[in-house]
Amino acid sequence: MDADLLVYNAAQVLTIASPGGPKRGASMSDLGIIPGGAVAVRDGRVLAVGPTAALREQVQAARTLDAGGRVVMPGFVDPHTHLVWAGERADEFERRVAGASYMEIMAAGGGIMSTVLHTRAASLDDLVAQSRLRLERMLAHGTTTVEIKTGYGLNTPDELKQLAAIRRLQAETSITLVPTFLGAHAVPAEFNGRTDKYVDQVVEEMLPAVAQEDAPPRFCDVFCEEGAFSLEQSRRVLETARALGFGLKIHVDEFKPLGGTRLAVELGATSADHLVCTPTEEIELLARSDTIAVALPGTPFGLGHSDYTPARALIDAGGAVALATDCNPGTCWCESMQLMIALACRTMGMTPAEAISAATINAAHAVGLGGEVGSLEPGKRADLILLNVPSYPHLGYRFGTNMVGTVVVEGQVT
Ligand code: NIG
Ligand code: FE
Repeated sequence: MDADLLVYNAAQVLTIASPGGPKRGASMSDLGIIPGGAVAVRDGRVLAVGPTAALREQVQAARTLDAGGRVVMPGFVDPHTHLVWAGERADEFERRVAGASYMEIMAAGGGIMSTVLHTRAASLDDLVAQSRLRLERMLAHGTTTVEIKTGYGLNTPDELKQLAAIRRLQAETSITLVPTFLGAHAVPAEFNGRTDKYVDQVVEEMLPAVAQEDAPPRFCDVFCEEGAFSLEQSRRVLETARALGFGLKIHVDEFKPLGGTRLAVELGATSADHLVCTPTEEIELLARSDTIAVALPGTPFGLGHSDYTPARALIDAGGAVALATDCNPGTCWCESMQLMIALACRTMGMTPAEAISAATINAAHAVGLGGEVGSLEPGKRADLILLNVPSYPHLGYRFGTNMVGTVVVEGQVT
C-alpha cells in the first residue's frame, strides 16, 4: 500500500475505535490500544492502523514520523465552546472571588450582556483577530475539531456577524469548526426583561435568517435556566429550530433544574450540556437515551463551585458522556481539553480512559461528526496528536503543562 505518511514506533496508539456509535457505559474504558503501534495516512485520511512491524512491511510511505515511544491518539474534539467573543471580564472574576455570584452579576447587567456589548461594538476583523488567538491555543493543545456557539450578538445582524467570524476562521484554520446558533443565550438589555418578546424575535426573525445562510449552522442551542429561558421558552426555540432542520443542543441544569434534561431527551437533542444539578430520574432517563451528556468540569472549577456533573452515575447507568471546555469569557476561559481530562478524573470520578473516550469519540458524536473524527479508524480524517508521555494515564495524572508535542491535521503536520 502507498501512503503519504507513516507515524510509527508509538509506545501506544489509542485507536478509540467505536464503529457502532458513541462509547456507552463500560465500553468507555476500552481505548483500543495498539502497543508499539503505527498509523498510515493517505489523502488526509487514516489508511491503516496496526503494529509497527506489520505496517512497516505493508506500507510504502512518502514521509515517516518516528513517534519515539510516545502516545499517539486522535486529536481532541471540543464539543461546546463560546469561542467567538470580544473583550474580557477580569473585573467580574475579581468580584466573584470577593463573593458575588455569577447569576447576581448577570442580573445586574454584567455577565453575558457585558460581552454582548463588546462583541456588538467589535468589527468583524477584530472579532476574528481576537478569536483566532484562542483557536491557535486550542490547536497547540491538541484540539482538532471545535464546536463554536453564537450568543454574544443577541440581534440578527450581530448573530450573523458571529457566524461570519466562524466562517472566516474556518477559511484560514485547519481545525474543523462546527457552528451552533445560540440566539437564546440571554435576554438582551434592550428587551427590559420581556423574555417572551425576545423569544418571538428568535423564532420569527433570527432562526429563519440564520437558516437561510449559505452554510447554516448545524445546531441550535438554548440556555435553559432561571434568569435566562424557561422550559416552555426553550421548547419553543428548539421546536422551531428542529422544524427548520437544525440539530438540537441545550444548556441544562447549570444552576437550577428546570426540567431541561427531560426536554432534551423528548426532542431527541444531539446533546444535553452542563447537567450539574440534574435530578436523579432525569440522569437515568438521559443515560438510556441517544442524547450525549456533555460535562463541562472547567465551568464549576472556573466559578469556584463544588458541584460537578454526575458523570460516574451516567456512565454506570450505561450513558455516553463527552467532555468539553465551555471556553467563554465568563465562567471558563480555558482552551485545553487536557485540563478537562485532569478535572474529570478528580471531580467526577472518571478514569483516564473514560475521560479520553469522552474527549474524542463521544465528543465527535456530540457534534454530529462521529463518522468523521474522534477515533483512528480507516477512512476517518487523519487528525492525530503525539503526546510526550509513555502511556495514556499521563493524561489525567498530569496537568498544567502541555503534553502535546506534534499535531497532525488531515495528514499534515502543523
Ligand atoms: O456555558 N451558561 C451560559 N453560557 C456560558 C457562559 C457565558 C458567559 O458567561 O459569557 C456557560 O457557562
Ligand atoms: Fe456554555
